[in-house]
Amino acid sequence: MDCPRTVRVLAIAGLGLLSGAAACSPAKSTAPAAQTTAAQAPLWGDLKPVVSVKELMKYMIDPVADNVFNAVGTTVTRQGTIDIQPKTEDDWDKVRTGAVSLAEGAYLLKIRRPFTPPGDENDSAGPDAVELSPAQITAKVERDPVEWNARIEALRNVALEALDVAKRKDVAELWDVGENLDKACEACHRSYWYPGEGAEFYRKLQRRLDEFHDQASKGGAAAKPGTPKR
Ligand code: HEC
Repeated sequence: MDCPRTVRVLAIAGLGLLSGAAACSPAKSTAPAAQTTAAQAPLWGDLKPVVSVKELMKYMIDPVADNVFNAVGTTVTRQGTIDIQPKTEDDWDKVRTGAVSLAEGAYLLKIRRPFTPPGDENDSAGPDAVELSPAQITAKVERDPVEWNARIEALRNVALEALDVAKRKDVAELWDVGENLDKACEACHRSYWYPGEGAEFYRKLQRRLDEFHDQASKGGAAAKPGTPKR
């Protein structure tokens, strides 16, 4: 599941999820004590990034998050509604793969790297641009690295929660983990990637949707409201 897309779909569906600022909600940490000691020892070697943040998201963070997001859910078939949940050892291992990859992968965001591949300026041009340019994101992180790191820790905390839940094979809690994960992704995106998508953006979008529905109900042809791309 792609975080931004989900939230947008929900927002457009009028659930008003984004009316308040999506808080960054660090889940309770279940980090084993050993991790703190390891973190304090010097690194065994240098770290060098391979890709931009955008590519790290697309080719690693996002796909592995799906192991957690897609582990529970419901699907409607001709036979009725079917609950999806981990059942076999392999199913739970998949959740663990997601959790471990996210917990470790989150720290790759601490390695200084470009935000986008060369030449990619994000959707940052024009007065209504909702996304920041890579230069603006970099400046924001440099201005306040504490926030950037807190967002990373928030993601890692949810990943640790997922790991714990997978160990205990707790299906009910896996639902909560999915929600917490969505919040951790989204809180960072709203702060660093598309802060232009604030309350005013959604008020405008809602107005356009209302106009569209009005005209459609009168049978008139209406311009399709701009659909967000993610
Ligand atoms: C610490 C901050 C942070 C966290 C946490 C975070 N992201 Fe991102 N993500 C970003 C930034 C910044 C960008 C935009 C990079 C750019 O385009 O300049 C981004 C972009 C993306 C993209 C767009 C990639 C593309 O090709 O356009 C996806 C998808 C994504 N993130 C998924 C996720 C998911 C899923 C999670 C949670 C499991 C997550 N992100 C957590 C910072 C974060």
